[in-house]
Amino acid sequence: MSLSSLSQSAETGQKLAVLYAPIAAELAETERVFAEELGSRFPFVQLLVDHCADFRGKRLRPALVLLTGQACGQLTASHPVLAAVVEMIHTATLVHDDILDEAMVRRHAATVNAEWGNETAVLLGDYLFTHAFHLAASLESTLACRWIGRATNLVCEGEMQQVHNRGNLDLNEDDYFAIIRGKTAELTAVSCRLGAHYAGADEGVVNALENYGRDLGVAFQIADDVLDIWGEERVTGKSLGTDLEKQKLTLPLIRLLATSDAATADRVRRLLVESSAENRRELRPYLEGSGALDYAWQRAQRSVAHALNALDVLPDSGAKTILRTMAQYVVRRTS
Ligand code: IPE
Ligand code: IPE
Ligand code: MG
Ligand code: MG
Repeated sequence: MSLSSLSQSAETGQKLAVLYAPIAAELAETERVFAEELGSRFPFVQLLVDHCADFRGKRLRPALVLLTGQACGQLTASHPVLAAVVEMIHTATLVHDDILDEAMVRRHAATVNAEWGNETAVLLGDYLFTHAFHLAASLESTLACRWIGRATNLVCEGEMQQVHNRGNLDLNEDDYFAIIRGKTAELTAVSCRLGAHYAGADEGVVNALENYGRDLGVAFQIADDVLDIWGEERVTGKSLGTDLEKQKLTLPLIRLLATSDAATADRVRRLLVESSAENRRELRPYLEGSGALDYAWQRAQRSVAHALNALDVLPDSGAKTILRTMAQYVVRRTS
C-alpha cells in the first residue's frame, strides 16, 4: 500500500471513528464476539479467520445495528451479538463475491481467493455463514434468526439474479434496482430493523428504520457501482472495474444505453463486450457527457432523501444526527 493510500484510508477511518464514538464500547464488544465465535482449533482455519479480523472494513452494518438501537432507546447485551452476526454475513458475501468477480484485492489486502484459492474461499464463506446463524441462535428468541435468514435469502437471490444477467446488455433499471435491493439493501435494512426492535421500539418505528436502512443500502450500492468505474484502487483498497469486466451492467451504463443514439449505443456496447481497463477509461467521457453519471448520482440522492425522511419518526438525539450523517456519507465516500 502506498503512503497516499494509507493517508486516504486513515482519513476515512478518522471520519468513521468520529461518527462511531458514541458506540465505541459496543463496537469493541462486537469485535470480541466476532473473533470468539469464529475461533478454531485448526491453525489453518484460524489463519483465515485472522485474515478477516485483521483487514477490517468500515463496519457499517454493525454501526447501523448499534446506532439505530441507541436512537430508539437503550442498547442491550443482544446488540453487539446482532452486530457481529450481520458483519459475519456481510463478510461471507464479500468472500464469495470476490470469487465471482475474480477480484484480487479487498480491504487493502489480497482476497482470500487470490491468496488461498477458490476452494478455500468457498469454504471460508460457508464457515462465516454457518457461524453467523450459530451465533444468532444463541439469542433467546428465534426472531433474529428468522429475520436474518430472510434477509440473507434475499441477498443470495440478488447475487444469483446478477450472475444470471451477466452479459445482458439490455438489463433495465427495474431489474437493476431489484438486484441491488436484494444483494445489498436487505442486509442494511435488517441491520436497522434488528437494532430498533431489540431496543424496544414499537412496530411503526421498527418498520420506518428498516426503510431507512433499505434506502441507505440502495444509495450505498449506486455509489459503489459509480466507484467501480471512477474510483481509484489505492483509495478503495479493492479491485475495481470488475462490474465491466464481468459485463454486469450498473445504473450509469443502463442510463447511457437507454438514452444515447444508435451509433453511440453501438460503440458503447462494443466497448463493453471487449471490456478491458483501457475501455473502462474510454467509457467515462460517454457517461459524463451524456448526463448518465449525473443521473446515477441523482438517483442515489433520491434514496438518501427517502432514508432521511424515514428518520422523522425518531425523537431528536445524538444517534439520530449520526444516522442522518451516515445516509449522506454513503454517497460521498471514496472507499
Ligand atoms: C462492499 O461493502 C460491498 C457492497 C455491498 C458494495 P462495504 O464497502 O461496506 O465493505 P467493507 O466492509 O467496508 O469492506
Ligand atoms: C458486493 O457487490 C456483493 C454483495 C453486495 C453481496 P459488489 O461486487 O458490487 O461489491 P464490491 O464492489 O466487490 O465490493
Ligand atoms: Mg465485487
Ligand atoms: Mg461494486
